[in-house]
Amino acid sequence: MDTAPTIKIAPNNSAFHILAADIFMGAINRVAAQDGPIRVVLPTGSTPLGLYRELIANHVHRRDLWDRVHYVALDDYAGLPPDDRRLFSNWLDRDILGPLSIPSSHRTIFNSAAPDPSAECARMDALLDQGGIDIAVLGLGTNGHIGFNEPGSAFDAHTRLIHLSVDSLEANAAYWGGMDHVPHTAYTLGLGHIMQARETILLVQGTHKADILQRMLHDPVSPALPATALRRMRNVTIIADRAAMSAAEPFPRT
Ligand code: GLP
Repeated sequence: MDTAPTIKIAPNNSAFHILAADIFMGAINRVAAQDGPIRVVLPTGSTPLGLYRELIANHVHRRDLWDRVHYVALDDYAGLPPDDRRLFSNWLDRDILGPLSIPSSHRTIFNSAAPDPSAECARMDALLDQGGIDIAVLGLGTNGHIGFNEPGSAFDAHTRLIHLSVDSLEANAAYWGGMDHVPHTAYTLGLGHIMQARETILLVQGTHKADILQRMLHDPVSPALPATALRRMRNVTIIADRAAMSAAEPFPRT
């Protein structure tokens, strides 16, 4: 059965990031009410950067919470050395994990250079099976991917090595100055683990995401459009700007 996500619409860019930070901190506080680590998945991409700036600017003092946060990688390029600046683990280190002083012992990341990718995926899955995701912050690919779960990804998929679609290669080229600099293979957590997250926050901004957001909300729930999996998940909040919602009207505003 479908579960309607909560949709929050931000009127402008700064409201988007403040709203995202408020909702994220609310989720963190709810999970923190119980003992134990707070396992958080964070995305790369341009959309979450304002959230990260907001967390650093206004919430960095919550050491009581950050000391309990365990970051779990959502996805990363494969075959790169540990110091490659394109690695999502290094990107997030620069933009959020470092500034929040999340120690490396509290980071579960992919070993991009692992000699045996199957064993690397099994290692991640075993860690996730020991303790699932508490809060998944996600972005939406222009082709409807979640992490690097590209169209066609099964909802019970495990962690795996994938070949990036042309859409994803083109979208990622923007981060690294052209297609020549985008690795063609990547690791991604599977939807099977992502869908078990206790709370999920999906960040969507821009007119270039309007069509895919509309389809995510209204197309049949299917691996053909991996983001429709969020309609089968509990406690999902979509934070969108008006541009991203421009194709989805009319829609109940909350
Ligand atoms: C990449 C990442 C995704 C992310 C997506 C959206 O493909 N693998 O996890 O959600 O980009 O990026 P942006 O926010 O730049 O649109």
